[in-house]
Amino acid sequence: MGMLRLRRASSQRWVETAVADLDAILADHAHCEKKAAATALSLLNRYPHHSTLVERMAALAEEEIQHFSLVFAVVRERGKTLPRDDSNIYVNRLREHVRKGEPQRLQDSLLVAALIEARSCERFSLLAEALPEGRVKALFTELIPSEAGHYALFLKLARELTGEEETERRFDELLDIEAEIVSSLPGEARIHG
Ligand SMILES: [Fe+2]
Ligand SMILES: [Fe+2]
Repeated sequence: MGMLRLRRASSQRWVETAVADLDAILADHAHCEKKAAATALSLLNRYPHHSTLVERMAALAEEEIQHFSLVFAVVRERGKTLPRDDSNIYVNRLREHVRKGEPQRLQDSLLVAALIEARSCERFSLLAEALPEGRVKALFTELIPSEAGHYALFLKLARELTGEEETERRFDELLDIEAEIVSSLPGEARIHG
């Protein structure tokens, strides 16, 4: 967790619940990858004049939709279909802290995206550790480095586009908020449950 700077570890209870219902975790995970692609496209759409951001978000959207396909292939191998996409309490609560007005909105959007990547990465690592050898363990293990890279990318973009010091100050606040949110989650078999 050190490199990700998260301030609270996910509970062992969540790990046990997740491992006990892998089909639910995989279906939710597929939706998360799809939403990560959609978020990248929405940032590209909202800030077309930031060329570095546009370039990175286009590449990210492609990568996340590839992740979606990897996860969805495993869902199908297990003979399942995707349920409807339920709203994600964790992400919604984090997004309530995105300030209005620019550049605050851009800064917070990038930092919230960094936190979502960091938490996903932490949880993929916990799942990879807890699972027995096999297809699902291999899938989570494979995705850990790229989600860690996305965390670093969003943080770097925030620093470049909205200033190093102000980014650090705001990230410190959001890290506390994220720790609070994660500790209030019900612990369901979802990636951010
Ligand atoms: Fe991903
Ligand atoms: Fe990602």
